[in-house]
Amino acid sequence: MQATIEVSGLRKRFGSTLALDGMSFTVQPGQVTGFVGPNGAGKSTTMRVILGLDAADEGKATVDGKPYASLRQPMRVIGSLLDAGALQPSRSARNHLLWLAHSQGLDARRVDQVIEQAGLKGVARRRAGGYSLGMRQRLGIAGAMLGNPAAIMLDEPFNGMDPEGIVWMRGYLRSLAAEGRAVLVSSHLMSELQDTADHLVVVGRGKTIADTTVASLLAEVSGDRVTLRTSARPQATVVLENAGATVVASGQDVLTISGLAAEKVVALLGALAVPFSEVSAHRATLEQAYMELTRQAVEFRPADFDAGPRAGDDGVDGDGQEVPR
Ligand SMILES: Nc1ncnc2c1ncn2[C@@H]1O[C@H](COP(=O)(O)OP(=O)(O)OP(=O)(O)O)[C@@H](O)[C@H]1O
Ligand SMILES: [Mg+2]
Repeated sequence: MQATIEVSGLRKRFGSTLALDGMSFTVQPGQVTGFVGPNGAGKSTTMRVILGLDAADEGKATVDGKPYASLRQPMRVIGSLLDAGALQPSRSARNHLLWLAHSQGLDARRVDQVIEQAGLKGVARRRAGGYSLGMRQRLGIAGAMLGNPAAIMLDEPFNGMDPEGIVWMRGYLRSLAAEGRAVLVSSHLMSELQDTADHLVVVGRGKTIADTTVASLLAEVSGDRVTLRTSARPQATVVLENAGATVVASGQDVLTISGLAAEKVVALLGALAVPFSEVSAHRATLEQAYMELTRQAVEFRPADFDAGPRAGDDGVDGDGQEVPR
């Protein structure tokens, strides 16, 4: 069985907050779809609406063409993990899963299979209240997989995972997609999805900003970058923008542009006697592409976010990567 998750024109208001403002996208079978956006963008609300836990004011969400509430055996169609802390702490992982299987009329033999798949075999008889966040995430995923569902939806499953857990999670999500399942996974860190997602739905302020493949997002938003160090940043900005460059980040004495090759930058600044001490070319990462896309959509930013560089902050981090602002 294959299932598609479809979200179309969702709007949802909580008092004065418009949490969803026309959210629309489709999660295809056989793919990992990364659902990314800043805090408050509406990712969790969208997932709650898909599961019928929140009612949308407008629009609709379906799984396998039907609203979740009308699915006769929902855990066989879509497995989900929204909150890894939603457990009875005194129950062991195994008993938690047995209870869940029983309540849904699922085969109890699945319990040991999903425990094994989630890497919980050694700890399955320990009380879940003593689990670390990463172990709770694994237990939540085991629960989501109990019904052997055609689609799976996980809200920030990388949260609390150690590096080994992150590697495991990436491989596991890929294997679920390879089996033909539709996989929707949210995150605010693009780096977590870089080698995992096939497709990306980037959201901000309750709506879809980009709905694209990882490859085309990189090709579209990135391209080559040139970072230069100059004591005459305003002058350099004018010169380079007049030549067709776009400023993608700037800091004290540092400017990062796209749309102009490094040799061209050197030639232009040299010809117009604009001082500079360093010019370097590099490629944008997926993280940078994401930061550019969502810059306008960040709901919560520190008060000094746009107030220019702080003392000692040259806008370039230790790896020579630009720091978008
Ligand atoms: N039950 C609620 N009551 C009031 N406001 C809510 C409620 N649930 C969500 N919101 C608001 O709706 C907006 C979207 O929240 P949501 O939790 O969906 O974002 P998110 O993308 O999951 O963010 P995060 O990355 O921080 O998890 C936020 O402004 C949030 O404060
Ligand atoms: Mg959330």
